[in-house]
Amino acid sequence: MIAAAFGLSACGFGEQGISVSKSDPNYNGAVLFATHCSGCHTLSAAGTQGTGNRGERTQGPNLNGRTETYEDALFAIQNGGFSGAIMPQNIVVGKEAEAVARFVAKYAGEAAESSPRPGQTSP
Ligand code: HEC
Repeated sequence: MIAAAFGLSACGFGEQGISVSKSDPNYNGAVLFATHCSGCHTLSAAGTQGTGNRGERTQGPNLNGRTETYEDALFAIQNGGFSGAIMPQNIVVGKEAEAVARFVAKYAGEAAESSPRPGQTSP
C-alpha cells in the first residue's frame, strides 16, 4: 500500500517496503521487524509506518528519528520498551531478538542525521 512512497531502490519481491538488500546480514532482522514491530514503530528501512490511526499511547517511538544501540534495542525487546507499560515483552526471543536488535541498531536514527538540530537556524 504505502510501500510505494519509499520507492528508493527497494527490490521488493514479497517483503515489500524493506529497503535492506537481501544479501545484507541485517535482512532477516528487517523482515522480523516488519512482521513483529511494524504495528507500533515507524522505521523506513523496514518499510513500516507505525499506526497513524491508533492512540498515541500504543504508538511506539518513531525509530527513524532516534538512534538506538544494540544493547538498548535488545533491552527494549526483552523488557517491553523502557517503561514496560505498553510494548509487549519478548515479541521475538533468542536469535531472532538479536537479529532484530542488530537491525534496529544499524538503521534506527537514519533521519536524525538530516533533521535540523535545536539551535540551528533554518535558512
Ligand atoms: C504494541 C505496540 C508495540 C510493539 C508491537 C512494539 N513496540 Fe517497541 N515500543 C512501544 C512503545 C509504546 C514504546 C515506548 C514506551 C517504552 O519505552 O516503554 C516502545 C519502545 C521501544 C524502544 C525504545 C525506544 C526509545 O528510545 O525510547 C525500542 C528500541 C523498541 N520499542 C523496539 C521495538 C521492537 C524491535 C519491536 C519488535 C520486536 C517493538 N518495539 C514492538 C510499542 C511497541
